[in-house]
Amino acid sequence: MPPSHQVTKSPGQKTVVKIMPNITNTSEKTRKIVVTAALPYANGDIHIGHLVEYLQTDFWVRFQKMRGHSCLYICADDTHGTPIMVRSRNEGITPEELIARSYALHVKDFEDFQIQFDHYGSTNCEENRELSERIFKAMEESGAITLHTKARFYCAKDQMFLPDRFVKGTCPKCAAENQYGDSCDTCGETYHAEELHEPSCTLCGDTPITRDSEHIYFELEPSRDFLKDWIPAHTAPEIANKLLEWFDEPLRGWCISRDAPYFGFEIPGHPGKFFYVWVDAPIGYMASLTQWCNQNNESFDDWWQNPEAELYHFIGKDIVRFHSLFWPAMLKVAGFKTPDQIFVHGFLTVNGEKMSKSKGTFIKARTYLDFLKAQDLRFYYACKLNSTADDIDLNIDDFIGRVNSDLVGKITNLASRGAQMLHKRLDGVCGVMEPAGHQLCEEARSRSERIATHYEARDFNKAMVEVRALADLANQYFDTAAPWLLIKSDPEAARSVMTSVLNLFRILAIYLTPVLPAYAAQVAALFHEEPYQWSDLFKDVENTPIGPYTYLAERVEPEAVAQMVEASREDTAPPAAATGTPGIAAVKATIDIDTFSKMDLRVATILAAEAVKGADKLIRVQLDIGDNQPRQVFAGIKKHYDPATLVGRQVVMVANLAPRKMRFGLSEGMILAAGNPDGGLFVVAPDQGALPGAGVQ
Ligand code: 2FM
Ligand code: ZN
Repeated sequence: MPPSHQVTKSPGQKTVVKIMPNITNTSEKTRKIVVTAALPYANGDIHIGHLVEYLQTDFWVRFQKMRGHSCLYICADDTHGTPIMVRSRNEGITPEELIARSYALHVKDFEDFQIQFDHYGSTNCEENRELSERIFKAMEESGAITLHTKARFYCAKDQMFLPDRFVKGTCPKCAAENQYGDSCDTCGETYHAEELHEPSCTLCGDTPITRDSEHIYFELEPSRDFLKDWIPAHTAPEIANKLLEWFDEPLRGWCISRDAPYFGFEIPGHPGKFFYVWVDAPIGYMASLTQWCNQNNESFDDWWQNPEAELYHFIGKDIVRFHSLFWPAMLKVAGFKTPDQIFVHGFLTVNGEKMSKSKGTFIKARTYLDFLKAQDLRFYYACKLNSTADDIDLNIDDFIGRVNSDLVGKITNLASRGAQMLHKRLDGVCGVMEPAGHQLCEEARSRSERIATHYEARDFNKAMVEVRALADLANQYFDTAAPWLLIKSDPEAARSVMTSVLNLFRILAIYLTPVLPAYAAQVAALFHEEPYQWSDLFKDVENTPIGPYTYLAERVEPEAVAQMVEASREDTAPPAAATGTPGIAAVKATIDIDTFSKMDLRVATILAAEAVKGADKLIRVQLDIGDNQPRQVFAGIKKHYDPATLVGRQVVMVANLAPRKMRFGLSEGMILAAGNPDGGLFVVAPDQGALPGAGVQ
């Protein structure tokens, strides 16, 4: 049965929004859903790789909310562990100060990317401590906790046991050098740090000693039968198959304790032992939900323990083991409901490669925002994301093309052309759709459940294909009806065409609301409406004045993208000389003397130095090499030197390096610096007596 569609008022009359009662969007009953995204570590900035997850989760949650469901997006900062302790120690601040600083930055990044959490907490909170203790006690009571004394690497200089990532050495399987203490990047082998050959402490370079320490283990073997059933029912087949490979052998116990000094929660009944960060991190989901419940007068049990409520974790494929093995076992043993599904996504590559600091493709959320619009990345990711754990690629040219030709050219132009023409020529008042235009709206609406199914299944790319196809139809309609010609002979007919175009555009904006919420809110304002719900699809907007057209999207300039990449580029520290010390990079392939002498190395005096605003690492340096033509160099040494202490010093510069245009200006050379394996950086200086401009051989 076609929907009722009647003309009741003429242009200029009061707003009429007709509801089409014979179409409903869903007969589903209201669902109660808790959704989490992995908690980002407090010791790092949010980058575009993280955003793959926070954005897709945001799309999904916003979609559920639009459909009328009660859905909570819960997250928090993951604050505990050795890296945070070491970093705060290096910066001379407390871990609490460090995590407070990160918290503010993370929250701002998320907000500016239009990622809307219902609650964003921190794992360093009392709710989390209490829940962690409660779950641990339940684990103890169930008999799944065992104690074992193990020999672990200890750095006598740093006075601490070294976590796996703080030890480097030679892979025990393939002999690749410079591998971390948990797995080898070259052959993929996983091992215990203590198995590395020629180990060294990444903090100080010393060889660690082994020291006995008693550790607490959570035994998984008692959960074997439960997990064997649970995993295939709650993870995608390819994920489950991989996890189930572990079940061919007895499941190894999981070491859940770390020795002091450690920034985290002390384990009750075990002084000097702290929960490993991966114990209290997922419990942080519960703690953050608890805080939301307390602030909103709701009950935790109604959301988490309620068999009718749903619980989903969105995670990357690197942390599947924690969420699909340890976590359900912990929850089960402690009598909590386990997640309904673990949604696993792949990694982000940029231009087909791993994100790279030296190529400028390791892009922080803030750097992105300094140059580009959040909604462009939201749109692009939506075009790429699907429900599999395959990696997604941000191809920079494709990104520019999709935003410019699809979001701006195909979709937004419908509104800008339609609304602007309506304002300029017809007092900005919609009339009644003409039949072909109205039929097209019905066609667009008829695809609503298909699009909803794609959103629900996290096949955001398929939803975007549908939207683009509809935009193509709308553009064909616009071009065929040619209202810019029609207006000359029959202005009211032109009004009907433009009313149809605007209604079509409005439907597209509703479909795009989970992905482009701010954009869609502007569209709603254009039509004097509240932010969209899915059911708003089934309204015609006719015989109503529209608001002023405000800019919705604009083209991405390739220049801005290039500048963003440049601002993200970090010069890798020059390789330190080979000394045979473990952890030092191997010597590169030999070069002949002619190649070497192509490099013009000069002694230079630093005339001026200042920190570059907006760049984490750069100091702008003016260098004198004795020819009265000061050279400007941007040196990546901000973290290591106070600019004021550099002025007057002599350094060695590469004087004939091709100048490089950076966001902040031209860099006309490079200062030599020695890079320690621990990240320390030291500018290379001649002994006293060398004159500016002296050649270095
Ligand atoms: O891998 C990570 O970045 C972790 N901070 C994720 C923690 S997710 C959850 F378990 F808390
Ligand atoms: Zn050390």
